[in-house]
Amino acid sequence: MGVLAALLKAEGCFVSGSALCAPEGLSRAALWKRIDTLRQQGFTVEAQKGAGYRLTGCPALSAQEVAALTIGPLGQNVRLYETTTSTNERAMQLASEGAEHGTVVMALEQTKGKGRLGRIWHSPAGQNLYISTVIRPSIAPREASLLTLLCAVASARTLRQSTGAEVSIKWPNDLMIDGHKLGGILLEMRADQDSVHYLVAGIGINVNLSKRDLPAELRATATSLKMATGKPWRIAPLCAALLDEIAQMLGEFQSSGRASVLEAWRGLNCTLGKPVRVLGPGGGQVRGMAMDIDDEGRLIVATEAGGVEHIGSGDIEQ
Ligand code: BTN
Repeated sequence: MGVLAALLKAEGCFVSGSALCAPEGLSRAALWKRIDTLRQQGFTVEAQKGAGYRLTGCPALSAQEVAALTIGPLGQNVRLYETTTSTNERAMQLASEGAEHGTVVMALEQTKGKGRLGRIWHSPAGQNLYISTVIRPSIAPREASLLTLLCAVASARTLRQSTGAEVSIKWPNDLMIDGHKLGGILLEMRADQDSVHYLVAGIGINVNLSKRDLPAELRATATSLKMATGKPWRIAPLCAALLDEIAQMLGEFQSSGRASVLEAWRGLNCTLGKPVRVLGPGGGQVRGMAMDIDDEGRLIVATEAGGVEHIGSGDIEQ
């Protein structure tokens, strides 16, 4: 365990110098250097003779904290931008230049945040989670939609466990609380007919937004963790927990197949069993009852006209 990870784990209590040095075999001089670097990065570290070191403050969001808190393979290489056009755009660029599996791009603000179906994702500075992860899976392109469901499940689980908020999933991957949208997932990929070269899983979650920060057109439909739970949340621990959950689910998906993702999605969704109107990307619409999802994550709708349709993409009104 690294020095920052050990200090974070101690949650503000003192950790002795020798306990901080031991895991990596650091000398005292090397430890001081590490502590000095942490201070330059904005961490407040108190030193006390005989007691050791303790962490009394963290920057609002730092790549170091996210990397220190993650235990799985995603998030060991984290890049944080104060502002960027879109973390997905950055991550796609890095992936095209060879960035390794698990590379993470985060931003405090996005100036051209991208949503599904060509929409804009409202991405004001410092309040929310904007994260994109490069994934190099060994799957066929038609299985990629399952990774969107996987990310939605991982997000809902993480937020439920970390904050207690009752987050559910509206097909295919809207994160919802009480009928209001909390976040969403945008998966982009580069693939040829037979194989996926790389994917970028972009996740946006409204964390500390207040109602007044929302543009008028989103006020009736959007929410944030703070609005739902009544208190603010630190973004770095949420990111780390999310990355570990995605890593764990990806491992399960690669080794045991799609069943666990589909089952978990069914258990967290708020769409199935309800009447829906599905608006297709091309402008068409289907009305009916949402019955289930199929093996590729498409929504199965028993239509008002008496047929059954498997719908691959669209927006739901329920
Ligand atoms: C949706 O429309 O529901 C998907 C929203 C996805 C937004 C996230 S924020 C981080 C990443 N970067 C982007 O530009 N979009 C995704």
